[in-house]
Amino acid sequence: STTIPVITIDGPAGAGKGTIACMLADKLGWHMLDSGAIYRVAAVAALRHKINLQDETALAAMIPTLNIEFKNGEAWLDGDIITGEIRNETCASATSQIAALPAVRAALLELQRRFCQLPGLVADGRDMGTVVFPDATHKFYLTASAEIRAERRLKQLSQQGLSAKLCDLIQEINARDERDTNRPVAPLKPAADALVIDTSSLDQAEVFATVLHYIA
Ligand code: CDP
Ligand code: CDP
Repeated sequence: STTIPVITIDGPAGAGKGTIACMLADKLGWHMLDSGAIYRVAAVAALRHKINLQDETALAAMIPTLNIEFKNGEAWLDGDIITGEIRNETCASATSQIAALPAVRAALLELQRRFCQLPGLVADGRDMGTVVFPDATHKFYLTASAEIRAERRLKQLSQQGLSAKLCDLIQEINARDERDTNRPVAPLKPAADALVIDTSSLDQAEVFATVLHYIA
């Protein structure tokens, strides 16, 4: 349906999607869509508006009224910078709850597709290759064991001067994966034509090399 090239990178939390998407977009000089950030901003909006996270109708009605923007590396909601607020596990958990609702996903679809602009787009999320950009030029699905992904999160947190328990992180990641995988709409799964890469024993440079080799 489009001549604009798109590369999709899907997979569970902490698989390394965001890192690889950034490296790839930088290298190609393409636009980038962090679709998880869009869902996260919508979750913050729901919390601010005190909307029940299961009230599908109210959530879907709220979304078109929001002004969601990403500029200068910051996430904006109705004129406020909320970059820090969207990055904690509380927000991630609320996000995966609202992301399970079909009307919420439908309301965010067009906003995501608007990122598809020349010279190209690298899109990261859960359903980029399956639902949002089914005609993508190249599709990747990154994964890793829950333990490894939780360890990466722990390291990320400690680098920010924050602490957490590994067992709590594993539990949170498993709960979120389960919700994302078992929802009836746009469940987390590799597209039939995606290259699946298990990053458990690979560092970022090795994953990036695999991706570049595949698209060359
Ligand atoms: O976007 P996603 O949640 O899939 O993962 P990420 O934010 O790109 O990566 C999560 C953390 O894992 C980051 O701190 C990365 O530096 C680290 N990572 C890693 O250690 N080895 C990889 N192969 C990929 C990511
Ligand atoms: O960085 P991480 O992989 O932990 O999460 P994220 O990509 O920011 O996504 C946060 C949550 O948003 C996920 O757990 C999903 O529930 C939801 N999400 C989604 O449903 N579809 C997408 N395309 C992206 C995110």
